[in-house]
Amino acid sequence: MRRKVTKAIFPVAGLGTRFLPATKSIPKEILSLVDRPLIQYAIDEAREAGIKEFIFVTSRGKGALEDYFDGAPQLEQSLRKKKKTDLLAELKQSTMDSGEIAYVRQREALGLGHAVWCARRLIANEPFAVILPDDVIAAEKPCLKQMVEAYEDTGGCMVAAMEVPESKASAYGLLDVAEDMGSLLKINGMVEKPEPEDAPSNLAVIGRYILTPDVLRNVSTLKKGAGGEIQLTDAIAMEIENGSDVYGYRFDGQRYDCGSKSGFLQATIAFALDRPELRDDLMDFMIDTVAMQKAAQ
Ligand code: UTP
Repeated sequence: MRRKVTKAIFPVAGLGTRFLPATKSIPKEILSLVDRPLIQYAIDEAREAGIKEFIFVTSRGKGALEDYFDGAPQLEQSLRKKKKTDLLAELKQSTMDSGEIAYVRQREALGLGHAVWCARRLIANEPFAVILPDDVIAAEKPCLKQMVEAYEDTGGCMVAAMEVPESKASAYGLLDVAEDMGSLLKINGMVEKPEPEDAPSNLAVIGRYILTPDVLRNVSTLKKGAGGEIQLTDAIAMEIENGSDVYGYRFDGQRYDCGSKSGFLQATIAFALDRPELRDDLMDFMIDTVAMQKAAQ
């Protein structure tokens, strides 16, 4: 019987420079789409995929993230008094039970591979998921759940994959595909942010992974890769060289790159339009604004 994936790592130790000056004092993962922080979407997705242990890799200045998951007794009492049961339920969703969540520190932002490696003792010898909270994926069945179901058949390592325009491909880790089986892709190799002429495909790795503990052992042997960072992609690619199976998974869903301003704004609009109480006002505003912009051109 394959071991179930019950642990997930959330690397949140990056510097978030693309959102400066906001991220000078607010962790990027607390920035909100409408009224829910990015991290809440990531936690909800993990829970729906069967994750029971949530491991955060944090760094200096991320205290607001730890506070976010605590209970808020005064606030809850006040909402209870006012019989605001909807808000109480919302609040409950953001509270983690004692022991459900663990934090490890990454002392220096040396890259995603290094961040994930910082959690190695908590992972021990189990398969685990990695979720990057700035990749927000709107999907009927949550992306990680789709992957966990596929992984039950395949085992090995699995990365979420998505076609990206060729002009943007070099900003991603890209897959060299050995066999395209539809949703599932057997992978021959992976390369992080290659020069356009070296791109093996336009299939990009997106921020959801299911990995074996061997990948963490590989990180220990890695030197700095693309961008002078210790890359998770390189550690996964080593598994292919070691003869293990690595798969890409073409998920169903719409991915928003909330690590970039443009992606974050697009997600904000899309999620707001999904809210019945906001939709009409926002639509009117957008139609007027676009008309004014056009007229001014
Ligand atoms: P990004 O490449 O988006 O970097 O990291 P960043 O620092 O968050 O943001 P920018 O580019 O400066 O604006 C992708 C994910 O990996 C984590 C980040 O927190 C983010 O979730 N990460 C990255 C770490 O935890 N540690 C690192 O050393 C690097």
